[in-house]
Amino acid sequence: MVKEYETLVYLENINYNYDSFHLKNINLEIKSKKSYYIYGPCGSGKTTLGKIICGLLKPCSGKIIINCLNPSMILQNIDNQFVRSVVSDDLAFGPENLGMGKNDINNKISYYSKLLKIESLLNRNISSLSSVEKIKVAICGIMCTESPVIVMDEVFSYMDYEQISFIYDLEEKCIDNNKAVIILTHNKNYLRKTDDVFMLKDGILCL
Ligand SMILES: Nc1ncnc2c1ncn2[C@@H]1O[C@H](COP(=O)(O)OP(=O)(O)O)[C@@H](O)[C@H]1O
Ligand SMILES: [Mg+2]
Repeated sequence: MVKEYETLVYLENINYNYDSFHLKNINLEIKSKKSYYIYGPCGSGKTTLGKIICGLLKPCSGKIIINCLNPSMILQNIDNQFVRSVVSDDLAFGPENLGMGKNDINNKISYYSKLLKIESLLNRNISSLSSVEKIKVAICGIMCTESPVIVMDEVFSYMDYEQISFIYDLEEKCIDNNKAVIILTHNKNYLRKTDDVFMLKDGILCL
């Protein structure tokens, strides 16, 4: 059981370099039961930082402690998120890799697909889904693994107001369930009062 405000991911003086871009001295603590909002212009390093938080990229220097199992990310390029063709098969992939039993996996898919309102999509081919439907399937897949940290990279870009409100509600449910949610976006209009807010500019994270 995750305690309230437990540190799930800790970054200290993190640097990451591509040839012509540097993420510089990032300090950030991701805690359970909290939502984070990291905004900044295109090319400011949001996706790179998200991948570091989830352990998908290894920092060039600095200290990172990932104090939880499987922190996860909804990828900005959503088509890269999926490994199987049919929605229900893809939803099973993460839990299978964590060694969950078949019954447990089916229960999770059933529960979270209802929560995400995607039950009608379970037998669909992923390539036939709209962008918003793909994002919901990706979130559902991550929730089926009970990941305690969910990074959402530019998920609002394809959404209308109703869909965005739906994601906010989902964020609240995640927080109530001791998770941390990190929203990465170029648009600061979607900021919520409850979020911890950071701005990324040219690879530097500011309050
Ligand atoms: N694999 C890569 N190799 C070289 N440069 C990269 C790579 N991935 C991203 N970059 C560059 O790093 C910068 C930050 O990218 P990114 O983290 O995607 O920013 P954001 O998500 O804020 O748009 C951009 O200039 C981008 O072109
Ligand atoms: Mg990005």
